[in-house]
Amino acid sequence: MAATKKLSSLFPLFSLICFFSVFILLSLSRKASISSSPTYPQFLQYKSVIATNNIGANATTSYASGWSSCDYSDGSWIYDRDARFDRYDSSCKEIFKGWNCILNNKSNGRAILHWLWKPRNCHLPPFDPLKFLHTFRDTNVGFVGDSLNRNMFVSLFCTLRRVSGDVKKWRPAEADRGFTFLRYNLTIAYHRTNLLARYGRWSANGNGGKLEALGYKEGYRVDVDIPEGTWEKAPSFHDILIFSTGHWWWAPSKFDPVKSPMLFFEKGLPMIPPIPPDVGLDKVLKHMIRFVKKTMQPDAIILFRTQSPRHFEGGDWDQGGSCQRLQPLLPEQVEELFSLKNNGTNVEARLVNKHLYKAIKWSNFHIFDITHMSEFRADAHPSTAGGKKHDDCMHWCLPGITDTWNDLFVTHLNSLKIRN
Ligand SMILES: *[C@@H]1O[C@H](CO)[C@@H](O)[C@H](O)[C@H]1NC(C)=O
Ligand SMILES: *[C@@H]1O[C@H](CO)[C@@H](O)[C@H](O)[C@H]1NC(C)=O
Ligand SMILES: *[C@@H]1O[C@H](CO)[C@@H](O)[C@H](O)[C@H]1NC(C)=O
Ligand SMILES: *[C@@H]1O[C@H](CO)[C@@H](O)[C@H](O)[C@H]1NC(C)=O
Repeated sequence: MAATKKLSSLFPLFSLICFFSVFILLSLSRKASISSSPTYPQFLQYKSVIATNNIGANATTSYASGWSSCDYSDGSWIYDRDARFDRYDSSCKEIFKGWNCILNNKSNGRAILHWLWKPRNCHLPPFDPLKFLHTFRDTNVGFVGDSLNRNMFVSLFCTLRRVSGDVKKWRPAEADRGFTFLRYNLTIAYHRTNLLARYGRWSANGNGGKLEALGYKEGYRVDVDIPEGTWEKAPSFHDILIFSTGHWWWAPSKFDPVKSPMLFFEKGLPMIPPIPPDVGLDKVLKHMIRFVKKTMQPDAIILFRTQSPRHFEGGDWDQGGSCQRLQPLLPEQVEELFSLKNNGTNVEARLVNKHLYKAIKWSNFHIFDITHMSEFRADAHPSTAGGKKHDDCMHWCLPGITDTWNDLFVTHLNSLKIRN
């Protein structure tokens, strides 16, 4: 009790010191960035801040505690009838056809954009694309993960493309797709990978083996200690990386536990006795975090995005499940749908997060938490407008809530930059 009291009475002093040190930092980095950027001297630049921070590291450390008291992922969605969305529109070519809810005439395709995320204890500044381009000049930003990360990548691309048209399309570091905003030498790329680890078809060898002896005939070989080639070079290329994995670990339609199970290999040998997918996930996370640490650039910022929730109701995607709500869920509906206790159709989001939090606890990854805020948005999936035989209650309409993820992403980066 006494100790807490003492600490809290020191807080005002701390904040004062911190305030001034940040102030000094700001003016230092402003000086540093003027030469390289005559048009926007008022903005901080990410690279010069990193350089400045190495000198003033001690001064800023204490700032972290005060800064992080605001949790941007805790809040609610507020309907704003007058909200104007003009960061990009449905004509952005990078939007995957099935996600373009406005062009596909989803009845609430535009209404989705009137719901604004309000963190409980802090202000979430609107995304300023010019400021972003400027701050992250000469920077490479990589999204590594499944199609949900592509969904977020597309949102960022469309937002930036709207204000800066001079773009080169290419495949940096063997990415699936990527773009450089030439005026700013800012590159963003999407590296497609389902499990992070390398995997491929496996079938029994006529000459026998340990898995064959256990009766396995077919499945997928997953090498827990080998990154998939699609992103292997990403950590040495990018300055900012945002990882994710999850949906595919609970995807029995592909990794059928009986017909085509995941068969885990380590150091090139099958793991005996075979381990189930949730244990495999722990192994993969451990190895991939180690790999990133070893191959990343020393100043890089690495985030792990938490799970993006699905909203299938009345069955899973292949059992006629759908998501036809036109408004976000209420808090009690969220609990009913996602609580681990209820073990419902979409339970995997919170399950995967448990593994994720455990794995990154002692690593240099920052958690980028979008799960709970997204759990409310049963209204924001393409649903029947996705153009598939079944409803798409997994990806998100664009424009849509991955725009809000990007708002959080930038705010997060800005706070890390100051803390580093
Ligand atoms: C930072 O703190 C360490 C130990 O507390 C000290 O040795 C070092 O000189 C300090 N660096 C600066 C730049 O103040
Ligand atoms: C959406 O509606 C417009 C106007 O009614 C129509 O021209 C277009 O074909 C529709 N698009 C789809 C995918 O149904
Ligand atoms: C562009 O940025 C990269 C780092 O991301 C840097 O290596 C390269 O030199 C920059 N190019 C120019 C022309 O400044
Ligand atoms: C959760 O439900 C699935 C089927 O929907 C079942 O296979 C599994 O055993 C259940 N898990 C728990 C912990 O009850």
